[in-house]
Amino acid sequence: MTEEKRASAPAGRGAPARSAGRALTPLSLGQVQAPKVKRLCTGIGEFDRVLGGGVVPGSLVLIGGAPGIGKSTLTTAALANLAAAGRKVLYISGEESAAQVKLRAERLGPHALEVPIVADTDLEAVLATLEVERPDVCVVDSVQVLYDPALTGAPGSVSQVREVAGRLMRVAKSRGIATLLVGHVTKEGSLAGPRVLEHLVDCVLSFEGERERTYRTLRALKNRFGSTNEVGVFEMHEEGLVEVEDASARFVTEATRAPGSVVLCAMEGSRPLLVEVQALVAPSELVPPRRMANGVDRNRLALVLAVLARHGGFSLGSADVFVSVAGGVRVDEPGADLAIALALASAAKGIAISAEKPLAAFGELGLTGELRHVAHADRRTAEARKFGLERIVHPGDGVTTLRQALALLNSSVEEGSVGGEAASARAA
Ligand code: TYD
Ligand code: MG
Repeated sequence: MTEEKRASAPAGRGAPARSAGRALTPLSLGQVQAPKVKRLCTGIGEFDRVLGGGVVPGSLVLIGGAPGIGKSTLTTAALANLAAAGRKVLYISGEESAAQVKLRAERLGPHALEVPIVADTDLEAVLATLEVERPDVCVVDSVQVLYDPALTGAPGSVSQVREVAGRLMRVAKSRGIATLLVGHVTKEGSLAGPRVLEHLVDCVLSFEGERERTYRTLRALKNRFGSTNEVGVFEMHEEGLVEVEDASARFVTEATRAPGSVVLCAMEGSRPLLVEVQALVAPSELVPPRRMANGVDRNRLALVLAVLARHGGFSLGSADVFVSVAGGVRVDEPGADLAIALALASAAKGIAISAEKPLAAFGELGLTGELRHVAHADRRTAEARKFGLERIVHPGDGVTTLRQALALLNSSVEEGSVGGEAASARAA
């Protein structure tokens, strides 16, 4: 329970039944004036794409992510590019001192040092600054540290965050200032903050990845000005975030080709992405045994395990099962089922699916063991071919059940394309 200060009560209880307001005149949508606005390009291709083609003037964008993921780095780089393109920008830092932000900016190139900054946490001061400066784009880092002294809650509490965002929004909309709000999210996605703002802002972007790994994905969870399917891939380097345009190539060359490894032709928004799905199956004494999923949904893993047991003849009830998408990428689509199942089967048998080139797969598993079609099959196969993957198992390929897909796995063994170790193990 958090105490919230109430706004002053309306004068006089038992208000009169008749409204005292002025009546509005409805317009048909065709008559409504909607001038085409020109978007502001941040110069970071992946960021612009996720936004739907750049920042819309006067819009409110919330960028959520775990601490240390790179939110400040991304927004500073975006402001630097906008400033270099002649836009008026402002960086409002509540979290770090101006000196700390400068140290980061030094790593991001010369333009980053041109970005004007104010460091304060008082909402009134920040709003007054915005009124005076009237930038085209401003960054508020972070929405959780700004506070309104008139409210009782601590900075970051629900009432404070809502008030701060609401008032920033009013200024942003009335003055046409595009505002990027940075918000922290815990691993569980909770903590008073970003979640309570989702309905208020125009776009909600989520910046994800594991801090220990270099890959980061930026995805849109809500976008009033574009698609929510877009995903941008970045890599954290010494000199800031670098866009990864050829993510597929990266993940395919890194694929291990060992038992338990399958390349998944996934769709990330409107573009195909090849990622390596890895599985490990190890005997276990634990009851119930462990099921760990990294980068794929746990429920999806449970379903695949059940279908494998019932329709594929692989019962992994006495084994620990680990499934992970290499590179720290998260795949959230039914098309991942088949790749997960094949990786598990390959891991359980200790047999590498293919010796020279990794096997690629995609398709959804039905509860009766059938393979289901998923969207954009042509683009997925095209992406796999582009990177030299010849063997692609998918529902459009005459393979209609999981059993048939698993049979392909066995046949590849008989053809002799077995991983060396497994072959010698079998011989032994
Ligand atoms: P930061 O943007 O401060 O994260 P957030 O604002 O989301 O909390 O940066 C996170 C990490 O990135 C930080 O630990 C240092 C690292 N980093 C680099 O590796 N290279 C760089 O050029 C920069 C600026 C940061
Ligand atoms: Mg930060």
